[in-house]
Amino acid sequence: MIIEPRMRGFICLTAHPKGAEQNVKNQIEYIKSKGPIEGAKKVLVIGASTGFGLASRITSAFGSDAATIGVFFEKPPVEGKTASPGWYNSAAFENEAHTAGLYAKSINGDAFSNEIKRETLDLIKADLGQVDLVIYSLASPVRTNPNTGVTHRSVLKPIGQTFTNKTVDFHTGKVSEVSIAPANDEDIDNTVAVMGGEDWAMWIEALKSENLLADGATTVAYSYIGPSLTEAVYRKGTIGRAKDDLEATAFTITDSLKSIGGKAYVSVNKALVTQASSAIPVIPLYISLLYKIMKEKGIHEGCIEQIQRLFKDRLYIGSEVPVDEKGRIRIDDWEMREDVQAKVAELWMEATTENLSEIGDLAGYRNDFLNLFGFEFSGVDYNAEANEVVEIESIS
Ligand code: NAD
Ligand code: NA
Repeated sequence: MIIEPRMRGFICLTAHPKGAEQNVKNQIEYIKSKGPIEGAKKVLVIGASTGFGLASRITSAFGSDAATIGVFFEKPPVEGKTASPGWYNSAAFENEAHTAGLYAKSINGDAFSNEIKRETLDLIKADLGQVDLVIYSLASPVRTNPNTGVTHRSVLKPIGQTFTNKTVDFHTGKVSEVSIAPANDEDIDNTVAVMGGEDWAMWIEALKSENLLADGATTVAYSYIGPSLTEAVYRKGTIGRAKDDLEATAFTITDSLKSIGGKAYVSVNKALVTQASSAIPVIPLYISLLYKIMKEKGIHEGCIEQIQRLFKDRLYIGSEVPVDEKGRIRIDDWEMREDVQAKVAELWMEATTENLSEIGDLAGYRNDFLNLFGFEFSGVDYNAEANEVVEIESIS
């Protein structure tokens, strides 16, 4: 069938398999162009199908010739209905990895569950013996705690008081004011339960208890900070509490890995267009201004550029990993540069529906959003019939 983007609110209901393949190929080419990285050889990526997790899997495989196991939660295709984008990304990744002679297998299911953890441990045991790097890159609005059976839903709200600021509907370009009522304690607890560090610690504990972590194994989870403009709804809001918890969990995991000389890090990454960030009010306006300025200054990066830099210039430099005063790796350093943030703050005051496409990178935002679903890639013939049913060979 001919596959076109079908938008509903902030999501796109369709995805393009050929475009997803092009996306993966572009990222692989980028990694190859930057040369080898003396990185891990056996890598588990939890949240491996899109965004930073997919970039981490590609960087490991094509930067360090690593065997990779990817865990994700994606919808397979059915006749007449496309898969979710991460499914196609993973199919394309496995194809490319196998062609390059690299081990790559995937597990599709709920990473928060005991069953998927069990399946992953068994696969590592059978095929790899141990892993030396575990990337934790889940982004989810909901988590069922397997021990309590309670399902938690995260919210994106300020804490303490109503937050009012500008936002943009990036589909229409309309700039308006939005007010978000503050969270209650239950909202905060639920958001921490979904996006905090508890599940990351459970994964590492499970791996360690069955001796599946190699000596000196490293684990990395991803966080965000951002500027004062978005603080009320991000870093000082409910999601920020979850990130505080995630960052604190890095220290408890490092303690628990002392016996094998292992270490847990949080890497603070740059703001990028993803399905998740598009749904947070205020953030799309911030991103469209940020993109414009970072592109003008020649320092714009996407997920793959960010993760290449994380691996090459932070994690695998052959000496101690550089961290900030709170022990975090910072690859948001260019986003947070004073000259960049000063300019964003200035443009923020000026931004209106009339001038945003001029002073901000609305076109870049839309392009990146469509790219998430495999649309708008050059080199793909979107008028051609595409087979929506793509198989992943080694998926369980
Ligand atoms: P994403 O939505 O692109 O990727 C999320 C991944 O998690 C996908 O592979 C998805 O399949 C998987 N997933 C979701 N629920 C799952 C479940 N129950 N079981 C198994 N897999 C599941 O998100 P992303 O933007 O790459 O975010 C990854 C991490 O990076 C998050 O912690 C996020 O907060 C952080 N981060 C994002 C940004 C940004 O601007 N997007 C910036 C800094 C940090
Ligand atoms: Na991810």
